[in-house]
Amino acid sequence: MRSFYLVVALLTLIFVTCQHSVARAIRSYVLSRRSRLRTRDGVLIFAVLLCANILLAFLSMNSGWAPADSQAQKILAVTFFTYLGVTLALAIFLVIIKTLYLSLSLALAGYRFLLIIVSGDLGDTPVIGKRETEGRQVTCAGSSPDSGHAAVLGSDTTHIPVLKRSMGAFSLGCFRSGIRPLACEQTIRRVAVAIILLFVAGGIYGVMEAYSQPKNEKFEIRDTKLHGLDKPITLIHVTDIHYGMFYNQSDLKRLVENVNSIEADAVVFTGDIFHSPQTNVESAPAIFRKLRERKFGNLAVMGNHEYYAGEKRTVKAMEEGGLVILRDEWLTLDSGTARIHIAGLDDPRKNWLLGQEFPNFARMMENAPKDEGFRILLSHRPTVFPLAAGNGFDLTLAGHTHGGQVIVPWGKSEKGWSPASIASIYTYGWYVEGQHRMYLNRGAGLTFVPWRINCYPEITVFALMPS
Ligand SMILES: [Fe+2]
Repeated sequence: MRSFYLVVALLTLIFVTCQHSVARAIRSYVLSRRSRLRTRDGVLIFAVLLCANILLAFLSMNSGWAPADSQAQKILAVTFFTYLGVTLALAIFLVIIKTLYLSLSLALAGYRFLLIIVSGDLGDTPVIGKRETEGRQVTCAGSSPDSGHAAVLGSDTTHIPVLKRSMGAFSLGCFRSGIRPLACEQTIRRVAVAIILLFVAGGIYGVMEAYSQPKNEKFEIRDTKLHGLDKPITLIHVTDIHYGMFYNQSDLKRLVENVNSIEADAVVFTGDIFHSPQTNVESAPAIFRKLRERKFGNLAVMGNHEYYAGEKRTVKAMEEGGLVILRDEWLTLDSGTARIHIAGLDDPRKNWLLGQEFPNFARMMENAPKDEGFRILLSHRPTVFPLAAGNGFDLTLAGHTHGGQVIVPWGKSEKGWSPASIASIYTYGWYVEGQHRMYLNRGAGLTFVPWRINCYPEITVFALMPS
């Protein structure tokens, strides 16, 4: 528990530091205040941001202050975490720009030094350009002739330092105080406002996509072990609902209605149905009881968030909601002369990042049916894939990564780049190893930020049939 509070304190400090640097950048680039912020004022702003963050985080995560199923708590949480995400993204963007600027400055300084050596004039600034001026004003590109900041040159030739000239050519010299003519200030301000608006627009779009209708993905799975089925067996796969902070009762009801509208023989939930200890878990059973009865039932496994929210209360809520929880247990479905064995693996209960080992997998395998059949593993974490492949499973259904909630079409892979790849080699979609397949669902709900960009929520339907 102590490590949990340490992580929360560290994250709070990171987020507040990001907001502080974004506020300073706005002061400098949007409000054009060039003077250094006094230390006392800087500390005061940091303290105000810290207090505001703690208060808003508390109000976002606790629903006790608002009426049950109130939209107010969800709107506050979505707005606050969108703000956190936007300021974090802006701070990362600032770091990238400043790093690029610093690298370029160093490169140009090296270039200048080289020119000085080549010119052999170590005493004066080397002359690299002459300009006939006759008293005209010389401004940086795009500035107006009447700019008050333009340098008035009275001599008929001007020696322009290499560094400043080169930086002007790259338009990055505008960042340096002392060579920031008025027109450059206006350009910088416009660019800064445009970048901020772009990030805010990205945040708003992310919220809209996150709360859009889940995409119904459909796949056929053909296998020789499914010979003998009198008709295809259909499974609906739902994962990572995260009922709680960003996903309230109306969202859950809408999801249940959506699932009920799909014909299938079974529904499988692969964990993280609930979000946190503050989640109103007790309100969920009434909604889950509205799930249609299925021929092979509504099945579930535990995710890491079920342990965060409280093992006993989440198990009770799922059972009262009519879900059959497979806790390192097996279930066999018979259809025609074919057999389908479904195993449900308990989450290893470690934190979301470090649970790469599955100590209870061996115990689950001890209870494995001895007879032939098509074997399906339900596991919250996809990192079980090599273990499942090595133990004769034909199909694994997993969740946990949410697809990273943002997918950037980037790189050689058709899956693009997703933040999930920072923590997992499995991000979303299909993975195949020999005869074994794994489908990693992008999830229905949200965690960390209430955004999805190019990563729609998902409900997946599998039709199992003979090859
Ligand atoms: Fe999750």
